[in-house]
Amino acid sequence: MKFFVTGGAGFIGSNLVDRLLQAGHDVVVYDNFSTGQANFLVEAEKSPHFKLVQGDVLNLPTLTDAMQGCDFVFHLAANADVRFGTQHPRKDLEQNTLATFNVLEAMRVNSIRRIGFSSTGSIYGEPSVFPTPENAPFPIQTSLYGASKLACEGLITAYCEGFNFQGYIFRFVSILGERYTHGHIFDFYRKLSDDPTQLQVLGNGQQTKSYLYIQDCLDAVLLAIEKPKIRSIFLTSAPMSIVKSPTRLVGSATISTSNRS
Ligand SMILES: NC(=O)c1ccc[n+]([C@@H]2O[C@H](COP(=O)([O-])OP(=O)(O)OC[C@H]3O[C@@H](n4cnc5c(N)ncnc54)[C@H](O)[C@@H]3O)[C@@H](O)[C@H]2O)c1
Repeated sequence: MKFFVTGGAGFIGSNLVDRLLQAGHDVVVYDNFSTGQANFLVEAEKSPHFKLVQGDVLNLPTLTDAMQGCDFVFHLAANADVRFGTQHPRKDLEQNTLATFNVLEAMRVNSIRRIGFSSTGSIYGEPSVFPTPENAPFPIQTSLYGASKLACEGLITAYCEGFNFQGYIFRFVSILGERYTHGHIFDFYRKLSDDPTQLQVLGNGQQTKSYLYIQDCLDAVLLAIEKPKIRSIFLTSAPMSIVKSPTRLVGSATISTSNRS
């Protein structure tokens, strides 16, 4: 199969690209390198089955052109940073929701019907049910990021209904592993590299969160797309303490807390 991967130079995308190539597929990566890194694609570049197109998903003509001849689209390109949404309210709408609309339109024009989409557990806001099932009610959205991803899900399911697309929506929790480049564990790491004796965390330090190792996440994604009709999957794990779980990282540092969460 020939896969088109938006955001294929990013943390999750580049790991997915490597797995697809290992499985013998052809892969086209489409990325604007806003947060992606060329060095994540060094292995992939060695394969004759790999092609890189540098472009922006908001550029519909270029996107449509690049997608020609592909069988399946993994759409991972996004503003993946949940923080700071209220500081730039248009960003999540443009980079996530409008970008996803462009991807769906480029697929429609190219008669490509299968899409795998990286949504997020953030769309559950602050869930009251643990473990949170796929059909848990969506509480009030707590971030512009989560709201924009929920809108993406709506567009994808509408294209499934309206244009007979086949959609696989993956609601990821915090993914960790090789090429991890952003998020609170990354921030902890940087702070502890500067001073291994102190770690300041936001909130009261009692928060819990779910994490998933990147290769386990990709095992699930690649298994799911072998199934004929799956819509939404919440890829999660049991919640763990954000401070106590990464004990090897934190070591014997003194934890101080701040009121902001
Ligand atoms: N990392 C996580 O824990 C996590 C959790 C939940 C959901 N997700 C979702 O998974 C996807 C991948 O996340 P990630 O952690 O690998 O992020 P990342 O920032 O490492 O990767 C995003 C990639 O998309 C590219 N990109 C961004 N905007 C683009 C645009 N307009 N046009 C073309 N390319 C563009 C970036 O250059 C980058 O390579 C995102 O959709 C994110 O929302 C990630």
